[in-house]
Amino acid sequence: MIQPTGCFHLGNYLGATRVWTDLCELKQPGQELIFGVADLHAITVPKPDGEMFRKFRHEAVASILAVGVDPEKASVIYQSAIPQHSELHWLLSTLASMGLLNRMTQWKSKSNIKQSTNGDYLVNDSDVGKVRLGLFSYPVLQAADILLYKSTHVPVGDDQSQHLELTRHLAEKFNKMYKKNFFPKPVTMLAQTKKVLSLSTPEKKMSKSDPNHDSVIFLNDEPKAIQKKIRKALTDSISDRFYYDPVERPGVSNLINIVSGIQRKSIEDVVEDVSRFNNYRDFKDYVSEVIIEELKGPRTEFEKYINEPTYLHSVVESGMRKAREKAAKNLADIHKIMGF
Ligand code: ADP
Ligand code: NA
Repeated sequence: MIQPTGCFHLGNYLGATRVWTDLCELKQPGQELIFGVADLHAITVPKPDGEMFRKFRHEAVASILAVGVDPEKASVIYQSAIPQHSELHWLLSTLASMGLLNRMTQWKSKSNIKQSTNGDYLVNDSDVGKVRLGLFSYPVLQAADILLYKSTHVPVGDDQSQHLELTRHLAEKFNKMYKKNFFPKPVTMLAQTKKVLSLSTPEKKMSKSDPNHDSVIFLNDEPKAIQKKIRKALTDSISDRFYYDPVERPGVSNLINIVSGIQRKSIEDVVEDVSRFNNYRDFKDYVSEVIIEELKGPRTEFEKYINEPTYLHSVVESGMRKAREKAAKNLADIHKIMGF
């Protein structure tokens, strides 16, 4: 699933949507693929804006198709249009302990709760007082998204590993409490590419909700804009050697990681490739070229799809028809098991 909170970026592409496209290509008979626009999750942002939201939702579907997800092979759905997601969220919330949710890091980082130097969050009562229940139970809704379809494999970026562990925990708890082996234990399919970081603050991940647009490469950025952003990317003062050291050189390492992700090459191979550069200008222009070339197709396709609202609508409608059937059946089974 992906949130319609803004235009998709390089992190979403390498960590999510390109993987979805790969899965469409690898699809075997008997397998089913469901990809979703997590619009219920998206309203956990501090200031949701209805108009923007409608636009982003539409753009999300265009972006998903633009990278090559095949609607003949995968269902694309809106989370909010299948009410069983919300309903299962409630049922699962009765199994989720506050203590376990409290250990999740996402609600803390999204609430700007301070982190100590060892990475622990310093949570105090007044911070917690401002956190909304929806943000706190975000991972329970995510578990519902997954378990509603009795999914067996979930492709995500590594920022989501913790939430997948919670999903497995809730599945097991349900199975133990209500019915043995009812939910399969969903496997985390971690994207090959490591987390893509913000260009200006390479401690943080690249994110749609980042107000600083220079930190984010959007899928529909013009080549000139991409080059400009990469030239501005925060790096360091070692300007004649480009090697991978995420702790000491997070900026350079992020750029190497991006190239490795796009080219599907190991970090070592990319480091060898870029060893020929002896100044930042050349190194960064190479990185820009690789990105520009990769995003050329998705950018053109995005422009095409965004101007076809009727088609986008029909893709989601037909995806949802299939998903709804499954959701209704599984939730009916769950109700029966739980005694409703
Ligand atoms: P965002 O945080 O940008 O709003 P989402 O929460 O919608 O992104 O995440 C959608 C998918 O994109 C998830 O599978 C997530 O793992 C992946 N993803 C998001 N940001 C990154 C990133 N910076 N690097 C790699 N993958 C990412
Ligand atoms: Na996210």
